[in-house]
Amino acid sequence: MPIEKVGVLGCGLMGSGIAQVVATAGYSTVVKEVADEFLKKGMGAIEKSLSKLAEKGTITSDKRARALERLKGTTNFEDLADCDIVIEAITENLQLKRETYSTIDKIVKPEAIFASNTSSLVITEIMTATRRVDRFIGMHFFNPVPLMKLVEVVGTIMTSPAVVDEAMKFATSLGKAPIRTADRSGFVVNRLLVPYLLDAIRALEEGVGSVEDIDKGMKLGCGYPMGPFTLLDFVGLDTTYYIANIMFDEFREKRFAPPPLLKRLVLAGHHGKKTGRGFYDYSDPANPRPLF
Ligand code: CAA
Repeated sequence: MPIEKVGVLGCGLMGSGIAQVVATAGYSTVVKEVADEFLKKGMGAIEKSLSKLAEKGTITSDKRARALERLKGTTNFEDLADCDIVIEAITENLQLKRETYSTIDKIVKPEAIFASNTSSLVITEIMTATRRVDRFIGMHFFNPVPLMKLVEVVGTIMTSPAVVDEAMKFATSLGKAPIRTADRSGFVVNRLLVPYLLDAIRALEEGVGSVEDIDKGMKLGCGYPMGPFTLLDFVGLDTTYYIANIMFDEFREKRFAPPPLLKRLVLAGHHGKKTGRGFYDYSDPANPRPLF
């Protein structure tokens, strides 16, 4: 079944990015949010991002306009009924995801593929809320979605191999470079990235170096685009803490255990760039000031 119409659940940071790349790639796209105010915010972010890409010449202004024409926002699940694939990017909460999938399973046509953008939950545990376990996959995008090339395509023990192939083809059609991964918490990237980020915090706690020096070390010594603390603040400390806890729960290995400083920052509401404070202070966004 060819993919022509795509549904995206959630228009937050990841959902809006996914809806944007899907619409830009030429698909008729419906993005669903729980309330108009969230939809308005997400659509605003999409317009801003498309304008930036057009300004830089990455896309033409005609392509920007056509992407926006193909994109429809909604707060009704019913508008997803005739989608060929639905990509879910709602809050990382297992119960909420299961409830949402159970609802749309009854609404969306049975031959449609369901894909979750979860970064750390086990796909098998989400999938069992539906009756289409053979047509359920993970499709994990990376932040910022319009710029990052990778998509992790996750097949479970129940996913039909043809559906995995279809998802690989679909991700390629979005201009992304997909990889196949097994349904293990964190898949490939977070399995390696999360212990690295947590270890940077442990190094800081042990006095190995300052935030600025550790960041500089990894940027200039390894050629990483961002040092670990800049990346932690960018991803969100609350998000990292949440992912680490899920992975620790799954593997019971110390390397996934969130260090005390991360927990303290999250408890204090210092969630990184989005709250204006994490390992850096973003009062002057152009010149983040290291706090440790
Ligand atoms: N849409 C359009 N433009 C965007 C954008 C978006 N969503 N986000 C950023 N840009 C723009 C910037 O505004 C900037 O524009 P200007 O040049 O006009 O300022 C431009 O893109 C590129 O930025 P820079 O040249 O300043 O920065 P860069 O070349 O370093 O690229 C980056 C930016 C791609 C984000 C790069 O820093 C990078 O790759 N960082 C690492 C990101 C990363 O690791 N992401 C994965 C996080 S983990 C995850 O997502 C998974 C998970 O489960 C937690």
